[in-house]
Amino acid sequence: MTQDELKTLVGQAALAYVVPGEIVGVGTGSTVNKFIDALATLKDRIAGAVSSSQASTARLQALGIPVFDANAVGELAVYIDGADEIDGHGYMIKGGGAALTREKIVAAQSRRFVCIADESKRVEVLGRFPLPVEVIPMASARITRQFAAMGGTARLRLKDGQPLQTDNGQHILDVTGLTLTDPLAFESEVNQWPGVVTVGVFAHQRASVCLLGTASGVETLKF
Ligand code: 5RP
Repeated sequence: MTQDELKTLVGQAALAYVVPGEIVGVGTGSTVNKFIDALATLKDRIAGAVSSSQASTARLQALGIPVFDANAVGELAVYIDGADEIDGHGYMIKGGGAALTREKIVAAQSRRFVCIADESKRVEVLGRFPLPVEVIPMASARITRQFAAMGGTARLRLKDGQPLQTDNGQHILDVTGLTLTDPLAFESEVNQWPGVVTVGVFAHQRASVCLLGTASGVETLKF
């Protein structure tokens, strides 16, 4: 199976976790796009979605799925999203699509995080994928030095030759050279650096389930 087919498979498998009559939290990315397409087949049986990005909102609305403001609704039963890496504890690196801040907000608002990913995302230790960190632009040079002191190299993410602007109007640093042996402690530490909006380690908001697309089908990992 191709990677795209594996993404379709897990996107469809995630429908089993959608609670009828409720609002579902929806992540961002190419795997989630497969989920959104599958969700359209259930649109008359759900109340709608809370979305983690402008891109997902546009896709949901184009398919006729109502999108609610996170502030207008209470706790969600489930949040469904992809990952750039996931380890054996359900800890993840996210933010390859620059949506990490809103993803973490919707994940925090949800009782359960169901991660959908193809098997290339499964790792023993987080850190091979460059770690996305959303930052306030005036702090990016100092935050870059703080990562350097930890042995990491932070690079400003560009789009069309200009600093990429997130949905929140901020910038992204992608940090290489880190091995995250204690993701919970690392997330807590970086979170409190002035100017960090969100660090793309999802340890406090880890997955409770991962639907992993493999050559032999969907493997369900529970954490
Ligand atoms: C976006 C994300 C995505 O979930 C992550 O990048 C995985 O994306 P894809 O499903 O396209 O591989 O965190 O900010």
